[in-house]
Amino acid sequence: MQSEAPGRPHRTSFVIAAAGIAALGGFLFGYDTGVISGAILFISKTFSISTQMKEFVVSIVLVGALCGAMVAGYIADRIGRRRTLLTAGVLFIAGALVSAFATTVLLLLIGRFIVGVAIGFSSVTSPLYISEVSPAGMRGGLVSLYQLAITIGILAAFAIDYSLSRAGAWQWMLGVAVIPALILVLGMIVMPESPRYLFKMGKDTDARAVLRKMRSGADISSEEQSIRDALSGLQIGSRAAIVLNLRFALFVGIGLAVLQQVTGINTVIYYGPQIFQMAGFHSASSSILATAAVGIVNVLLTIVAIVFSDRLGRKPLLYAGCAGMALALVALALSFGVHGLASQRGAIALISLMAYVGCFAFSLGPIVWLLISEIYPLRSRGLGMSVATFSNWTANFVVAQSFLTIISALGQAYTFLLYAGLSVVTIVFVRYAVPETKREELERIEVYVPASPRA
Ligand code: BGC
Repeated sequence: MQSEAPGRPHRTSFVIAAAGIAALGGFLFGYDTGVISGAILFISKTFSISTQMKEFVVSIVLVGALCGAMVAGYIADRIGRRRTLLTAGVLFIAGALVSAFATTVLLLLIGRFIVGVAIGFSSVTSPLYISEVSPAGMRGGLVSLYQLAITIGILAAFAIDYSLSRAGAWQWMLGVAVIPALILVLGMIVMPESPRYLFKMGKDTDARAVLRKMRSGADISSEEQSIRDALSGLQIGSRAAIVLNLRFALFVGIGLAVLQQVTGINTVIYYGPQIFQMAGFHSASSSILATAAVGIVNVLLTIVAIVFSDRLGRKPLLYAGCAGMALALVALALSFGVHGLASQRGAIALISLMAYVGCFAFSLGPIVWLLISEIYPLRSRGLGMSVATFSNWTANFVVAQSFLTIISALGQAYTFLLYAGLSVVTIVFVRYAVPETKREELERIEVYVPASPRA
């Protein structure tokens, strides 16, 4: 008989269902950030807007996301993870409807801003909720489901844009997001609140009932005791596996969140067809097809993290992924920088971008969301995640806004070398700053505020 991972109950269907529903927040995140690249072509025809306004319509969703992320943690600590996710679902629906029925650019901007706020809410709360309901031995795999949902959302946006492009039906492209959003709302009505949050609010009886359901059949007494000890501020001292100072935990969370973005992933996700055209793909349709292939790799390689983050650990995946990203980016840079490679540039671009995105998909993509949902103490987990997620969206915005400018200032080769260099910086950061959280109970990751020297 196969041995059970620690903290892994025999029947896991309920906790998987809870994680799957919460992961819909990730699907909507991926769909709504991805869909605009195709829709904008037709939106600009309907409203005949300037290039500047076009850029604004595209990027306002990121502004909304960073505003949403800023407040979501506070809200999730106040009204609970479940109600925050429900609010995100309602905002997704409202934003999709306002955008789809927009008769003016202003209405469209408002709709897309609301969608952005919903993305900010869900990018804080979905991983947080999944992390808190998961048994320690499955937490890596279940939080990685959230990243899988993001990548499927990006791919779905691509497919919908492609299939509706003949009709130019941008309203439908933006509007169909109502369907998954409705499922998120209905699902979260049925799903219970996070047991850890319930304990935090002193609702012990409810908390115990939910924990028992989530651990179907397994003994919950030691998990319950750890949560209570952590909440009562009891020093778990010798039982703590990982001990971080709070300021350091914030530094680690912000560092990971920013590095996930400044290593360049969204240059490919947002500007894929343009990069392929720079590399010599002549027709728009072949560069769109190449971007779709990259999107499929993004989905498939995320499965590696689902399977291995609890077995191998978070850090080995991060090392392997970042090293692969750096190598792939160097290959891409060489294809642009070395004259003799010009004739193979298209093929090298396709292979290296697939490798780059594939390596991101099993490392920085899922593992960053996972780690930032693990390293903060229950008392201030929402707030800690908000700070990290806000930094993630801010860095996302900066990279998206600066990519084309950097290319025209440095040229393609040096631009991709820059992202390669930052992937190497990430390896060093992971080596020296990031703790390994594989299979640890959340409460054994202890964060303390150092006493001031005068006290
Ligand atoms: C990142 C997004 C990115 C996506 C790509 C996520 O983990 O946060 O910015 O677009 O992965 O799959």
